[in-house]
Order: sequence, then C-alpha cells, then structure tokens
Amino acid sequence: MKFRDVIHHARLEGTLVEVAAPTDPDLEMAQVILQHDGRPVLFTNVRGHPGWQVAAGIASSRDYFAMALKVGVEELIHTLAIAMENTVAPSVVKEAPCQEVVVETDLNLSRLPILRHFSCDGGPYVTSAVLILDDPDHGPNVCFHRLLKLDERRFAARVVENRGTDLALHKSSGDVPVAICIGNALPVLLAGSMSPPNDVDELEIANALSPTPVVRCKTVPLYVPADSEVVLEGRLTHTMAPEGPFVDLTETIDPVRPGPVIEIDCITHRRDPIYQALLPGKLEHKLLMGMPKEPTILAAVKRVCRCTNVAITPGGASWLHAVVQIAKRDPDDGKRAIEAAFQGHGSLKHVVVVDTDINPYDPAEVEWAIATRFQAQRDLVVLPDQPGSSLDPSGTHEPGQKARTTKMGLDATIPWGADRAAFEKIRYQ
Ligand SMILES: Cc1cc2nc3c(=O)[nH]c(=O)nc-3n(C[C@H](O)[C@H](O)[C@H](O)COP(=O)(O)O)c2cc1C
Repeated sequence: MKFRDVIHHARLEGTLVEVAAPTDPDLEMAQVILQHDGRPVLFTNVRGHPGWQVAAGIASSRDYFAMALKVGVEELIHTLAIAMENTVAPSVVKEAPCQEVVVETDLNLSRLPILRHFSCDGGPYVTSAVLILDDPDHGPNVCFHRLLKLDERRFAARVVENRGTDLALHKSSGDVPVAICIGNALPVLLAGSMSPPNDVDELEIANALSPTPVVRCKTVPLYVPADSEVVLEGRLTHTMAPEGPFVDLTETIDPVRPGPVIEIDCITHRRDPIYQALLPGKLEHKLLMGMPKEPTILAAVKRVCRCTNVAITPGGASWLHAVVQIAKRDPDDGKRAIEAAFQGHGSLKHVVVVDTDINPYDPAEVEWAIATRFQAQRDLVVLPDQPGSSLDPSGTHEPGQKARTTKMGLDATIPWGADRAAFEKIRYQ
C-alpha cells in the first residue's frame, strides 16, 4: 500500500482531515496536526509552496499498518518478524514517479515545505525521512534521521552513535553518498525503523512486506523506493554543525549536540508532490519508533524461551519500556527473557515479563501481575552502567559518547513449581 493509497483510503473511510485554508509550515501546521493527533491530515494549500501538499498522521494507527500489510493487527509483530528473517530483493525500474521532476541547478531546500514544529526547536526539521547509504562492508542501510535545515543546500543530522549510519561514516575518510527519501509507503517506514543485523538491507524487508520497486538515483550510486514523493541526493560529510534543540520522542527537549552536515546536490520529486510531515513526540512518532522494535525483541527472546508476544508500551514513550509475554517452560525462563529483551532493543530501559494469561497491551493487567506474582528479592534484575538511550534525560550523557543507564527487569510470571490455581484470576460466573 503506497503512501498515497493510505490518504485515499482515509478519505473514503472519512477519517482524513482535509485542510484547504492556507496554512504555514512555520509553526502553524504543527498545531493543526496536534489537534488531530492519531488521524491523517492533508494540507492542500501550503503557504509559500505552490504546487505542494503536506500530509501527516499517515502512520498513526496500527490499523493502517495492518491494512498496508493485509494482515490483522494482532498478526503485525509476527509478520514483521517473518519479513526480517525472509527478505526479498526488490525489482529495479527505469522510470519512477519519484523522478518525474529533477533539480540539479539553482538547488534550494526552501523549495520543500519543511516544518518548524515548535518555537523551542533549533529551526525547520525534516522528521519523516529515511536515509539510505551503502556501507562498504555490509551494503545498503536504511535508517531515520531528523534533519535540521541549515541553509539552501545543507542539513545537520542527528546520528545516534554506533548505529548503521554512524558506523558507515566513521569507516569512510571522505564524504558518504546518501539518498534521503520523504513520503514513503508504510512498509518502507517500518523497515527503516527496524534494526536488523548489519548485512540486512531494510529495503529487502520492506519488499518482503509489500512489493517495493526501486530506482537508481540520478547522482549517487544508490537505489531508492520508486514511489517516494521526494528524494534528496547528496553527501554525508565529516563536517559537524550544532544540531538541536528538538522536541523528541519523550516529549522532552533534546539538547544541542554536534551533528554531521549533509550537503544536497540533487532534488527529485513527483510532479504533484505530497511532502510527509511527522509531528515529533506524538502518536505517529511513537508508533513508528516503538512498534518495529517488537519483532526484534520477539526474535531475541524466542532464541532463549517460548515468547508469544511483545508490547512496547506508550507509558515508556514507546521506546524505553516493554512487556514480554512467555509460555514458561523452565524456572529461569523469566530471567532469560529479561536479558534477551535488552539484546533485542538496545535502547530498552525497563522490561516486565508476564505469562500468557496476561495481555501485554493492557497496563492494568500487567500491573496486576507485578502485584500478585512478583517478589523483588527473587524476581528483580538490575543491570547498572549499560548503554542507554540518548532520549532518556535521567541517563548519563557525555558529548560524543553513547549514553549510559541502569536497566531493570521484572519477572512477573507465576513462580516455578507454585500452585498455579493460587495465582490465577477467578472466572466470574
Ligand atoms: C520517526 C523516527 C525518527 C528517528 N530519528 C532518528 C534520528 O534522528 N537519529 C537516529 O540516529 N535514529 C533515529 N531513529 C531511529 C532509527 O531509525 C532506528 O533506530 C533504526 O533502526 C536504526 O537503524 P540501523 O541500526 O540499521 O542504523 C528514528 C526512528 C523513527 C521511527
């Protein structure tokens, strides 16, 4: 299901908010998106950008992902996990919608309706883009990076340490060719937010989820989704510039840090482009950051015990907390699941392990399990001084270094060998 198909579907089902009034990408648009958080919004009259439309909220519900992958919501995590293990190389096309218009001279990023979201942000930010590069050892890598617009041709990127983009940049003495894709189908967005093993090309995951033909870029040796709305071709450089402040996933202000500069050399886009906006810190951001981590946690826990489900919870900013559901077969399965969950998602801070009779998506049920099945002196795992998320203000943050944190796991499963009947809720009948 392509980016535009989601808009069309939302219009048919009456959930699309269409804004015909002239709206400014500078601060005004974000407020309108905020009012309709959780719903797709289409701005058809973008102040200062004739010929452009702006869409937001495309990825703000699990229903849209399920619809895009033609599965039930409850099958999403398993469908993503299967696609990650069974990737399919995409077909290559010669002509592509994303290259209907090609701009290589008088290039100006102000051509794009890049939103300034909040007055405390460091400036206009591209927040929905996936960046593609070719790692010399592992091949193509696809990953989201927020991009602060510096001027007509340059961005400062937020590149978290020790992930694909950071590793590729540090391997190369010169600039790294990149392609930045904006306005993508949901499978591309999902895959771009996953962290598969380094040698897995996320576009092959996207293509395994739903056919995702690619086209070769005009000025860099990279392939991009043919159906993207906009592609910015350029170079990731070793020049650093102040990046931030920015309201990020935890809805706190992420501080200013040095970020690598990206120089744009070519812009291609559809004839009637729809720019994708993504409101930082709100539902769409949370779903796109958190949900793709559920299959990687599931895969990691399945390697040590019988894992039946995983939920990245909204209360943990859809990034720092997870609930892992297991069918316990061994006294140590709970503890094994805790340690494996931290392998499956590097930024995970706290995890609760529950039995199959507990719905991991229901915070009240999870708390009940902690209240009735957990004893701290027996079931608590505390791991001090671990690599943590740069987004957690309570962690330890040294410039240029990976954040540090203390991780905690709660095994809230029924104690091994106990009389299960004593721990199960009665059936009211
Ligand atoms: C909406 C969204 C915004 C993101 N912004 C950033 C960012 O600015 N910088 C970053 O390093 N990762 C960001 N991420 C996380 C990465 O995309 C994600 O961790 C990815 O899996 C890393 O891929 P890699 O391990 O293959 O490099 C973002 C993810 C999403 C969904």
